[in-house]
Amino acid sequence: MRNPSLWMATSEWLEQPVLRGDVTVEAVVIGAGITGLTTARLLLEHGLTVAVVESGRVCSGVTALTTAKITALQSTIYSDLTETWGRDVAAAYAGANLEGLEMIRRRVVDESISCDFAPAPATTYATSTRGARRIEAEARAAKDAGLAVTLTTESDLPYQIELSVRLEDQARFHPRRFCVGLLAGILHDGGIVFEHTRALDIDRATGTVVTDRGSIRSDIIVVASHVPFVHTGLFTSRMSASRSYAVAFRPAEVEVQGMHIGVEEPIRSVRATGDGYVIVGGESHPVGESRDTEARYRTLESWARDHFGVDQIDYRWSAQDYRSADGLPFVGALGSSGRVFFASGFAKWGMANGTIAAAIMTDLALGRQNPWAEVFDSRRLGLRHGMTRLIRGNARTLNNYLTKRWRRSGLPETDDLGRGQGAVVETGGGKAAVFRDEDGELHAVSAVCTHLGCQVVFNPAERTWDCPCHGSRYGVDGAVVHGPAVDDLSTVEIRSPGRSPAGN
Ligand SMILES: Cc1cc2nc3c(=O)[nH]c(=O)nc-3n(C[C@H](O)[C@H](O)[C@H](O)COP(=O)(O)OP(=O)(O)OC[C@H]3O[C@@H](n4cnc5c(N)ncnc54)[C@H](O)[C@@H]3O)c2cc1C
Ligand code: FES
Repeated sequence: MRNPSLWMATSEWLEQPVLRGDVTVEAVVIGAGITGLTTARLLLEHGLTVAVVESGRVCSGVTALTTAKITALQSTIYSDLTETWGRDVAAAYAGANLEGLEMIRRRVVDESISCDFAPAPATTYATSTRGARRIEAEARAAKDAGLAVTLTTESDLPYQIELSVRLEDQARFHPRRFCVGLLAGILHDGGIVFEHTRALDIDRATGTVVTDRGSIRSDIIVVASHVPFVHTGLFTSRMSASRSYAVAFRPAEVEVQGMHIGVEEPIRSVRATGDGYVIVGGESHPVGESRDTEARYRTLESWARDHFGVDQIDYRWSAQDYRSADGLPFVGALGSSGRVFFASGFAKWGMANGTIAAAIMTDLALGRQNPWAEVFDSRRLGLRHGMTRLIRGNARTLNNYLTKRWRRSGLPETDDLGRGQGAVVETGGGKAAVFRDEDGELHAVSAVCTHLGCQVVFNPAERTWDCPCHGSRYGVDGAVVHGPAVDDLSTVEIRSPGRSPAGN
């Protein structure tokens, strides 16, 4: 990975085997982030035999690239949910997130997981009078939803705020160290975890997960890999992927103790760690819609320098998460077989949401009631809610598919590419996604996403090919780095002679 996070750089990587051949278990979980690992833990605690398959390393996905605030106060979500769904749904969402936080707290304490877990207040703040009105509205909605929030003008941020809504006793932690703790528990309880093993398909009739290394037969299948890679229930068109950036640095003195998020643009998310770092996040955009992703980092870094008076940025990273069209996560059945479950759409609030989703999926898989199953139900229609967002997202997909895919004029040629640059180019034989490495070598792959056929876009900061339709990402060699795509981009022979580049 080009930009590993603070979490990745400061935690253990316990190597797990690759799946070889065929295995039968009572439950299989696809994806080893916080959602998948927690589900595996819970299923094991109920006495099932469990396998986890992970296409990369354990906890190397979004959970390793988050800002890791565990809180039920999430920007202005209660104003949004109350407006879209009403007060009862907003209250159920608040209750579910408080329970997700409690589940993490209990596990950290009960199992002595060393992950810098510490209580911290969460705030949503405004720096303008106009923003303050949104804060007041959010305080009302959050209170109505059952949260013990307060309004305050005091803050531990190093800049002036107008007003904030504050919720005490939320928490921050080191998400990878927490996941390493979950992994240790899974292995201790007899679970098996396969790394570098990509799920390719699910045969729902036989209960088989087909992977690139073998297959796993199981009566219960949990998909915890974001948007499902199997085409069921049109979830791809009901969710959109948004990318955000984060930087971590060490100010001379860390005064920030709380976890903060602003309401005015540019939105900034701020929290400290237990060991002297401050993390600032922001610069969100729909995946594939920012051509100059390096500029996003530069903007965030310069904001951090201006507001925290630091010279050096120690870590920077970026990641993406999915949001549903109607604002609620999807958790529950995938298809009608009764044996496949999934969870996604956490909208960058997946620490508590992913944890409660694991509890819901476990209960559904075991045929038990769960008090929050209904509010997150993946089978809800939800079309009247978030219709505009859904139409906008689908129009974007269609536009990408119909227009960009076939448009050839105005494309750069391979000769135009400097070292470290990539673009979709006209090659003489068609279009290809071409990257020129630091030695001047060209790497050309198909420009057509293997998921549903949209055209990929170069992400210069991460050096990946990103798909604007549903967020799949590929390395410059075409290998999938983020689903829902499961097949790599094929290598393309470049026919253009190309001249030797001078570099950039
Ligand atoms: C920049 C940023 C900041 C955030 N900050 C916060 C925050 O402060 N608080 C908060 O609550 N949330 C936050 N979030 C959201 C939160 O990080 C995510 O919602 C959460 O980590 C999702 O966890 P997960 O287990 O569902 O996904 P992941 O951690 O991504 O795990 C999914 C796993 O599935 C694997 N996988 C994918 N496809 C396959 C396949 N076909 N076969 C096998 N394995 C596969 C992936 O490799 C990955 O490891 C943030 C998100 C972003 C992007
Ligand atoms: S991710 Fe769906 S078409 Fe690319």
